[in-house]
Amino acid sequence: MGSSQSSLQVRLQKKPKMSQQELQRQYQRNLSEQQLADHLSARRALEDSSISRTADLCQIPGINGQAPSIIASTANNESFYHQRPTTIHSTADGSRTRQNFRWIDGRRHHNMEGAPYLLPNDIDEMDRLHLQHYVIRHAFGGNTRAKFDGKVHKDVLDVGCGPGTWILEMSTEHTETNFTGIDISAVWPTEIRPRNCRFQVVDATQGLPFEDNTFDFVYQRFMILGYPAASWPFVIQELVRVTKPGGIIELTEIPVVSNANGPELSRIMEILEAGCIAKGLDTKVAKKLDTLLRDAGLVDVKSCHASIPVGAWGTKVGQLMRENSAGIWASLRGWIKELTNMNDAQYEAMIKRIFVEYEVHRCYVNCYCAWGVKPHPQDSSLEAETSANQH
Ligand SMILES: C[S@@+](CC[C@H](N)C(=O)[O-])C[C@H]1O[C@@H](n2cnc3c(N)ncnc32)[C@H](O)[C@@H]1O
Repeated sequence: MGSSQSSLQVRLQKKPKMSQQELQRQYQRNLSEQQLADHLSARRALEDSSISRTADLCQIPGINGQAPSIIASTANNESFYHQRPTTIHSTADGSRTRQNFRWIDGRRHHNMEGAPYLLPNDIDEMDRLHLQHYVIRHAFGGNTRAKFDGKVHKDVLDVGCGPGTWILEMSTEHTETNFTGIDISAVWPTEIRPRNCRFQVVDATQGLPFEDNTFDFVYQRFMILGYPAASWPFVIQELVRVTKPGGIIELTEIPVVSNANGPELSRIMEILEAGCIAKGLDTKVAKKLDTLLRDAGLVDVKSCHASIPVGAWGTKVGQLMRENSAGIWASLRGWIKELTNMNDAQYEAMIKRIFVEYEVHRCYVNCYCAWGVKPHPQDSSLEAETSANQH
């Protein structure tokens, strides 16, 4: 992560000059100068991108014509992320209380009992999640795949919201909608945030602390390393329970194992996948999201996927995904070293070889998305009646 972190910092130092209009917008939104600069540079990077939205450019199977691109952004609450162990935050209103953390290989992790989540929750990881957010947003052409309508979707839940990149963007855009983000780690901004969003520490595998039929839109992204395989159906049931009839649930995941892997990457992916399975995780849940939604009773279930290059071979998008992957390798270093008995030097050498393989083998990941509608009670009983009559 060292090199990716420094390149991110270099980009951030080059703050774009703000126009009067942009300054005004900043004032209105009550964002800090740094936050606004980050958002602006990310947006400009996307606008300036010479990447066309075509499949052939990236030349990977199943790209869906949705070539992803660019991004730049950063964690916006450094003092918070840099806090040392045993101090931190949480609570229903997002204010700070004490919470213990675990430190693994120099990285800060959650300390939620029973939660298998493997990735850290420190500033480096938050940087990575911001970066990843913008690549994914571009890959899918927006923040949601289901049609989001601020006039209809008044209450929104983001499950496993992390630093809140998605929710902060959505709540800035849809000012008349109330957004709630939940996560096992309180890594969201506590001081500067839109008025229409709030955060709460919740372990989703233990049930959601909301009334039935509370939300119009429930969003969940990248929880593959968060939930034990056995918990997925329960969590989805909980998502359905708190969704209003007629409301939408949207899920997005990337499988643990990437595609077009070279020999080194294949070897380590095998070890990684076995390690995840040993921890009780479902490494293939990404491909089953639509089935999970249907099994939970949703209707009008739709799904899609975008193939996203990893490596400079995939132009700027690929470079950013490689940067993202550098972050993941850095985040998982402690655990992988433990799984493989490697030392630091061996680990770094392996990552270098993997980076070469990204280019030679044209590595890519598939990002899967599925969404569906919670039926109204009368629709469900009608459906049950129809299917009973058919038998
Ligand atoms: C890979 S991050 C994704 C963050 C965000 N959804 C995004 O797409 O940028 C996964 C997040 O899930 C959270 N998480 C893991 N297990 C969880 C659980 N059982 N309940 C709630 N959140 C959890 C982690 O703390 C982390 O912030």
